Amino acid sequence: MAALPIWSQVIQERSSWRSYEARPMEPAQVQALEAACAQPVPSPFGTAVRLQLVLGAAQDGKKLGTYGFIRGAQAYLVGALTRGDRDLEDYGYVFERLILEATALGLGTCWLGGTLDRAAFGETVQLGPDEWLPAVTPVGPTKAKRGLVDGAVRMFAGSRSRKEFGELFFDGSFERPLNDGDAGPWSQPLEAVRIGPSASNKQPWRVVVDHGGAHLFLAPTPGYGSFLNFEIQRLDLGIAMCHLELVARERGLEGSWQQIEAPCEAPAGGRYMVSWVLAA
Ligand SMILES: Cc1cc2nc3c(=O)[nH]c(=O)nc-3n(C[C@H](O)[C@H](O)[C@H](O)COP(=O)(O)O)c2cc1C
Repeated sequence: MAALPIWSQVIQERSSWRSYEARPMEPAQVQALEAACAQPVPSPFGTAVRLQLVLGAAQDGKKLGTYGFIRGAQAYLVGALTRGDRDLEDYGYVFERLILEATALGLGTCWLGGTLDRAAFGETVQLGPDEWLPAVTPVGPTKAKRGLVDGAVRMFAGSRSRKEFGELFFDGSFERPLNDGDAGPWSQPLEAVRIGPSASNKQPWRVVVDHGGAHLFLAPTPGYGSFLNFEIQRLDLGIAMCHLELVARERGLEGSWQQIEAPCEAPAGGRYMVSWVLAA
């Protein structure tokens, strides 16, 4: 059996790729992705997420549109989400885990929640009446160098930079910024949140840690994504949950996701979402 990936490393290796080699994946990579799609990780809030690897996106003439953002990709990972209260957080969590599995296989990916022809992708997974499709990713071997479009999108979104640790993470309440050096065992799980992907790199997650665990808040970017009919930044929150949990477990911070009473007041415009509650 293959060794389990060290998720903190995989999270560091991941970045969004928009330029792909025209060649297909290795059969072993296809097999591993199909296995990962067949058995998605359980979603924290229990929403059903159906995953599918769509091969031959270019060869068979099917037009899986990304408005020119993605070049050369031969395959996509696509998910169908059952509608529900916390569906987007669940999708972010489950789909990011699949993206990390692909990263661990040496493949490139790129979350696409805005620049995609949703109807065309929806057809490939034959959406049921209660299902919808929030986002997809190309998957495959990447070009050695990023293309012009990729470079331009990354520059526009400021993809290489992140907010400072103390702007995102807090000790007990939002009045006390937490510096990396003072975060103790939370340092690596929080860093895994910080370097995670988010739509247009807006980084809307905030985390307060205390003796009970890590409490996740969403600080939505005003007006962002208003052209979409869903709150795309809730996907970012699910991604943060995925990263935080994987690396917390690596550091021995065992726990579970729970919605508890908000441990402190939310920042202006923000709201409490969920906590990683440490096991007693
Ligand atoms: C929910 C979500 C939706 C995204 N949608 C798009 C998209 O539609 N088009 C695109 O080119 N990149 C998209 N991205 C990629 C982000 O721009 C990228 O994650 C961010 O700039 C950080 O860069 P990195 O992923 O290389 O670390 C999306 C990312 C997330 C998390």
